[in-house]
Amino acid sequence: MRIAINTGGGDAPGLNAAIRSATLSAIRRGWEVFGIRNGYGSLYSDEPFIPLTRQRVHGITLQGGTILGTANRGNPFEMPYQKKDGSWGLEDRSDEAVEVFESHNIDALVAIGGDGSMRIAHKLTQKGVPVVGVPKTIDNDIWGCEVTLGFDTAVTTATEAIDKITTTAESHRRIMVIEVMGRYAGWIALHSGLSASADVILIPEIEFSLDSIAQKIMEKEKKGETYSIVVVAEGAKEVGGDHFVKGKVIGQAEQLGGVGEYLEKKLSEMTGKESRSLVLGHLQRGGTPSTSDRLISLRFGAAAIRSLADKDFNKMIVMQQNEIRRIPLSEVADKIKLVPLDGDTILTAREIGVCLGN
Ligand code: F6P
Repeated sequence: MRIAINTGGGDAPGLNAAIRSATLSAIRRGWEVFGIRNGYGSLYSDEPFIPLTRQRVHGITLQGGTILGTANRGNPFEMPYQKKDGSWGLEDRSDEAVEVFESHNIDALVAIGGDGSMRIAHKLTQKGVPVVGVPKTIDNDIWGCEVTLGFDTAVTTATEAIDKITTTAESHRRIMVIEVMGRYAGWIALHSGLSASADVILIPEIEFSLDSIAQKIMEKEKKGETYSIVVVAEGAKEVGGDHFVKGKVIGQAEQLGGVGEYLEKKLSEMTGKESRSLVLGHLQRGGTPSTSDRLISLRFGAAAIRSLADKDFNKMIVMQQNEIRRIPLSEVADKIKLVPLDGDTILTAREIGVCLGN
C-alpha cells in the first residue's frame, strides 16, 4: 500500500506528532508513505509528493507547526488562478488532483485538517480517492469530536497570557480586553477565560450587551476591585449590533478593527475607566504541543492508519469519551461544534459569577 498524508488549514500544535504516528504505523505495516506539501499545493507541482521515512519524522513530536507546510487557500475544488485582466478567480482542479494520485499509485490519503479540510476530504472520496480524516484546529469546533488536536496547547497559551495581563491590569486599575481566536465557537475564550479567572467571557454563542459588561465592571469597582479582565472570542456578537467575524467588524463599526478594540473603546466610555486591548492572534497557534495534544495527535495518527488497514474509508477519527472512534466524513461536512449553553463549563462560569455578556 502507498499512502499520502497532508495538513490543511491553519496550523496547530500536534500536527507533527500526528504525521509521525501515522508514518510510523504505516511503515510498520510495510506501506510506503508520502507527504503532500502546503495543503494540496504540491500536487500541482513537479514534485507532488515527498517520501516520509522513519528518519524524516524522527524527533518531530515536540515541534510546533507542520513539517509538510499547510495552506488556507488551495482547495482542489476551488484553486485560485489569475485571470487575463489580472484579477483572481477560483477553478475546479480536482480531476487533476485525482490523476496525480492515480499516476503515482497512491492508494489512500490521510487528511489532517479542520472543517474545510474535512469537506474537501469528503468530496475527494466521492471522486474515488479513499480518505481518512484527522481533526485538527485550535478552535476545537469540529463537529462530532470532543477534542481536536491543538486545542489544549492553544488554551494553555491563552491562559498564560491572560495571567500575565492580569498583573498589569491590577497595577494600573484598568479594564484589559483580551481577544482570542474562535470565529464561530467560543471554546478557547471560555476555557482560557475560566482558567485565568476572567471577570467577563464573551463567546459567539451568546450575544453580548455592553450594558451588562459595564454593570459587572462597576459592581466590582464598588467592592474595591479596581481592575477587570474581559476575554472575548474574535467572532463574538453584540445583541442587535455588529457581527464580528475573523476579528473584523462587519457593518457600521468596520473602521474600528476587531471586537477587542471595540470593547476597549466602548467600555472605557461607559465606565470612565482606562482600558486597553490585546489580540493574541497567531501566538495561540504556535509552540511546542502540550502533553495532552501530543498524545491525542499520536492516537489520531495511528487510528487513521488502522482505519485505512480496515479499508474503512471516508471516515474521520474522533475522540468521544476518551475513546477513539470513527464517524462518516459526510456527517462532519458543513457543521460546527458550538459550546453547549447548558453544558457544565458554562454552568460553572455562571455559578462563580463570571459575566457571559447577557
Ligand atoms: O485555526 C483557526 C483559526 O485560528 C481561526 O480562529 C482564525 O480566525 C483563523 O484561524 C486565522 O487564520 P489565518 O490568519 O491563518 O487565516
